[in-house]
Order: sequence, then C-alpha cells, then structure tokens
Amino acid sequence: MILPILKYGAPKLREKSNLIDAFDDELAKIAKSMIETMYASPGIGLAAPQVGINIRLTTIDLSVGEDDSKLIILCNPEILSTEGTQKCEEGCLSIPDFNEAVTRPLKMAVHGYDLRGEEIKIDADGLLARCLSHEIDHLNGILFVDHLSPLKRNLIRNKIKKLAKAGEW
Ligand code: NI
Repeated sequence: MILPILKYGAPKLREKSNLIDAFDDELAKIAKSMIETMYASPGIGLAAPQVGINIRLTTIDLSVGEDDSKLIILCNPEILSTEGTQKCEEGCLSIPDFNEAVTRPLKMAVHGYDLRGEEIKIDADGLLARCLSHEIDHLNGILFVDHLSPLKRNLIRNKIKKLAKAGEW
C-alpha cells in the first residue's frame, strides 16, 4: 500500500522514534508499504516517521527497485563508527523540490536488525553512507535542512511558508 508522505512542518517528523521490540507481521506490513511508497515516489530511502509511524525503521534502495540485492530494511539502526566527510547535494521526500549540499560521513559502520530480528552490520561508503546518515537522522527527528547554515535554513523555511499559505505544500 502506498502511504502518504508527511511534509516539512508535520510534528511527527520532529519526534524521536521508538525502538522496535516486536519483529512481527505488523512490522513486516509496515516495511512492505514503506518500500512500495519509496519506489513510487521515487526515492532511494524512506524512514517510518515520514509515513507518520514513529518507529526506528528505515528502507533504503540505491537502485530504486532495479536490483533486489540493493534493498536494505533496517530496524533500530545504530551508528558504530564514522570516517571522513563528504559534501553533496541531497533532498528529502518530505521536503520536495529543495536540494542543498549537506556534509555527511564519508564512511559509516551501522548495526541494526532485519525484519526477523536478525542482526545486520553494514559497512557503507559514498552514497550509501550518506543515505544511512540521512535516514537515521529522521529517526531522531532531524531533517537535512537542520545541517544547513541558519541563513539557508530560513530561506527554505520562508519559501515553504509561502507555499503553505498558497495551499501548495
Ligand atoms: Ni529524508
């Protein structure tokens, strides 16, 4: 089921999401809908709070559905270590049509669980490291605009305010 994606301004995007403690059918259903929503958008990553569910679940697929082996479903992710930095343009399905350069770790080791509660460890670099950093931020109520300078952040905020006033957000 394709779910509506919350946009910047929605309170649920700003909450710290809860740890998953039941690896059950309900969780699998949510993950399935998130993957469908991510592919339909299309996007390379989605975090559960973006569809209004404040649990620590993220789906990532750098191939956007082209290559099954690229799909990552990650529960309760934790960053074990980071190395270096990269600065690249990024966007977010919750902040459509805004892209800005954000500094992220160049490499990242992440620990988490799959839908059955089995441990997963990911050693990521480049785009995957950036995407993991972005999605884990979502689970902590952080959006990419929070990494920008106050000036840039305010510019985006004001543009969104105008769009919202016009009923276009
Ligand atoms: Ni995002």
